Amino acid sequence: MHHFSYTGSNLHCESVDLAAVAQLYGTPTYVYSAATMADNYNRIINGLGDLDVHVCYAVKANSSIAVLRHFANLGAGFDLVSGGELRRVLAAGAGLTHSVFAGVGKSEAEIRLALESGIRAFHVESEPELIRINHVAGKLGVKAAISFRINPDVDALTHAKTNTGKADNKFGIPIAQAAAAYAAAAEYPNIAIRGVQMHIGSQLTSIAPFVEATEKLAALAEELKARHDIEYISVGGGIGIVYQDALESGASKWWDDQPEATRPITPESYGAALAPILKPLGLKVLVEPGRFMVGNAGVLLAQVEYLKRGQGKNFLILDAGMNDLMRPAMYDSYHQVVPLRRNTSRPAITADIVGPICETGDCFAKDRDIQQLGEGEHVAFMSAGAYGYTMASRYNSRCMPAEVLVHGATFDLINARETFDNMIAGENIPAFLK
Ligand code: LLP
Repeated sequence: MHHFSYTGSNLHCESVDLAAVAQLYGTPTYVYSAATMADNYNRIINGLGDLDVHVCYAVKANSSIAVLRHFANLGAGFDLVSGGELRRVLAAGAGLTHSVFAGVGKSEAEIRLALESGIRAFHVESEPELIRINHVAGKLGVKAAISFRINPDVDALTHAKTNTGKADNKFGIPIAQAAAAYAAAAEYPNIAIRGVQMHIGSQLTSIAPFVEATEKLAALAEELKARHDIEYISVGGGIGIVYQDALESGASKWWDDQPEATRPITPESYGAALAPILKPLGLKVLVEPGRFMVGNAGVLLAQVEYLKRGQGKNFLILDAGMNDLMRPAMYDSYHQVVPLRRNTSRPAITADIVGPICETGDCFAKDRDIQQLGEGEHVAFMSAGAYGYTMASRYNSRCMPAEVLVHGATFDLINARETFDNMIAGENIPAFLK
């Protein structure tokens, strides 16, 4: 469920006509719905029913400071993977009492910053990392709270690049070595054991891997409870969202008509499957959703530059490129593309929807059926709120896009389009070239 729909022929986000946003701030521009994010947060909490649950929103999905503030106001903590993300949370005015620090390559400076900022716990992925955390904590004269990230060796049945819970992935401690790792950690003077964690992958569309991995982790947690008095179990993120027919999926419970096997995972089905496994542990439960919280809450607006009629092929050329929305080029991922002004009397065309970048890979969609559009008209990429702006780059010396947050009938610029001067601010021509 989301808050994007046509009112008459005009695509709206909540009560804002998206064409008005494109006109005021130009394109490419990301637009987010505050109401959709709040609904998503509440659905996760309610889906896990009467568990003692805390959402640690995975900042990597969308790290806009206004978005972080919105989630902090709702009561979320954060799942962080860098000093930069940590600073963003602080810049949003949020504390770190409910936040955790993940990632396989934490630097000494990041560990120090996190300890000084009062991080709730580190999610530790190796013994060398544990040694470093113990060392830095010792220098600061504090105890560092930790949980091990466990690799349960479960196939998340998702894209190979976002499958993280198999034994041959770089992530986590093999589950067979977990007991020994905890026993070793208990001997370090500046380490306090707090819990156990996993994250098996992203954009999961079937519930079975979650169940299998949670069962394995819960069995381990039961053992650890007795030996190390842990207080929480974190089941990571990964709940998939709807990309196909994303606009239509805004309608409440549209999946009721779908065969069961093809229904998307919902926080309700996720909660119903996991709560019975987690509840008997009597532990606090952390979840780290990123995509689910923001994915369907954002669109990328782009303008048509040209409709190019090639040999037996049409190309709809946009002013947004793979640098602005990397997912189709990187993962062959699908994003629905819809016009901001729907006109059913126009003919439909079949076209490759492409950007202006000088690579064949700069293609958002192949042979896509879409209403005929011409120069100056606008489209929206649906489900672009997660891993959109955060994965964008300046490739081809294109400035980073703008970001806008909609709240009811109002909208605010939350991140101005980058300027050329800003883009080159750190660059320098050395004297020998002058
Ligand atoms: N926790 C940890 C430790 C993670 O590594 C991730 C995501 C999450 C939570 C959040 O997962 P989510 O709920 O968003 O699935 N760029 C890719 C996705 C990469 C996900 C990386 N880790 C994409 O655009 O599909």
